[in-house]
Amino acid sequence: MRTQIAIVGAGPSGLLLSQLLHKQGIETVVLERRSQAYVEGRIRAGVLEQGTVELLEAAGVGDRMRREGLLHRGIELSFEGRRHRIDFDALTGGKSVMVYGQTEVTKDLNRARQAAGGQTLFEAEDVSLHDLEGAAPRLRFRHQGRDHELSCDFVAGCDGFHGVCRRSIPSEILKTYERVYPFAWLGILSDTPPVSEELIYARHDRGFALYSMRSPTRSRLYIQCSPDENLEDWPDERIWDELRLRLGGEGGEALQSGPAFEKSVTPMRSFVAEPMRFGRLFLAGDAAHIVPPTGAKGLNLAAADVRVLAGALAAHYAEGRDDLLDAYSETCLRRIWKAQRFSWWLTSLLHRFPEDSPFGKRVQLAELDYLTGSTAAATTLAENYVGLPFE
Ligand code: FAD
Ligand code: DHB
Repeated sequence: MRTQIAIVGAGPSGLLLSQLLHKQGIETVVLERRSQAYVEGRIRAGVLEQGTVELLEAAGVGDRMRREGLLHRGIELSFEGRRHRIDFDALTGGKSVMVYGQTEVTKDLNRARQAAGGQTLFEAEDVSLHDLEGAAPRLRFRHQGRDHELSCDFVAGCDGFHGVCRRSIPSEILKTYERVYPFAWLGILSDTPPVSEELIYARHDRGFALYSMRSPTRSRLYIQCSPDENLEDWPDERIWDELRLRLGGEGGEALQSGPAFEKSVTPMRSFVAEPMRFGRLFLAGDAAHIVPPTGAKGLNLAAADVRVLAGALAAHYAEGRDDLLDAYSETCLRRIWKAQRFSWWLTSLLHRFPEDSPFGKRVQLAELDYLTGSTAAATTLAENYVGLPFE
């Protein structure tokens, strides 16, 4: 088998890259370890920056998102029993975000790839990468009980944090930066009436809570918990009681409980691997970096990497230029580190840390008071949340 770009991973990064390259007339084969149903069913991100929305539209997968996605022009911050709105519209000159689940983004991309005759091989096992430093890299894998070899011009490592691509870069070349947080998020979905039109990020002495949604009738809720939390200790009523307390005030009172499904615990880490290129291998998305979910940057950063990579590959094929490919890692990392900073900052501002002192609490509350009282402070939150501009 041969293709121009071999893509490992059919998460949002791999599928979006495949679709953007297809629009440029560049051929790809996507190798995915899991089944299509598994990838499409994975409940993860829910908030798309305006730039991600525009990129999905440019990729030709914006129609259903425009119809079914929920446009949000602000968020609410809750602390000490009060709620304060951060008005993106006013603070960023009319920018907004779109609430549209990663499950839906993935479905739309799979449909588009299939309609265009794109090749995505699901349940591809034992993918390994070879000759990355030469002119003709190769991938070996097993599919439907047979061994295969795929040769290509370039490999895109879009296989997430636990994938094989980052591990294929020699350790003396790759530098990693990491912070693991001493807490996690317990998340649920529930078909209960909305308590607010916008997301509520709550700081509470018992820990962080987030009210989000997937549609006007489906809520997505999170509470801070410990990283080794046992879900069996969290019957639905305990989760609702905790949410009611932490969301506080009107949000808490309006919260109606109902059956919770898709319960999961997400550990929290910040992680960056540099450089994002080795020979003809380019890493994109979670394969190269992880952010804690506070601020919803994970999927948006993945889309931003893919945007840069698709442009650089298009310049290589159309104009024979490699300067954009050579600058890929540096271009992406500038944006990634800013999103890392924002995600770390919002996480630190809103969570309860085990070592918290009364001093730490007062500093968090002073910063929240400042954020909600100063236009300059609120603007820095708003412009990061809606997404920093592309270079
Ligand atoms: P992934 O979505 O991880 O996709 C990688 C793909 O590669 C997967 O389909 C995987 O099966 C495949 N793969 C892995 N190894 C191999 C291999 N060896 N061979 C072939 N295929 C392979 N972000 C937010 O913004 N908000 C959130 O609320 C949020 N919640 C999250 C919850 C969880 C549990 C996790 C793990 C992440 C969450 N994120 C969230 C982050 C966001 O989902 C990711 O940033 C986003 O999925 C990144 O897309 P990706 O395509 O780079 O990686
Ligand atoms: C969602 C997740 C986030 O991490 C976030 O900051 C906002 C919303 C969500 O899953 O809806």
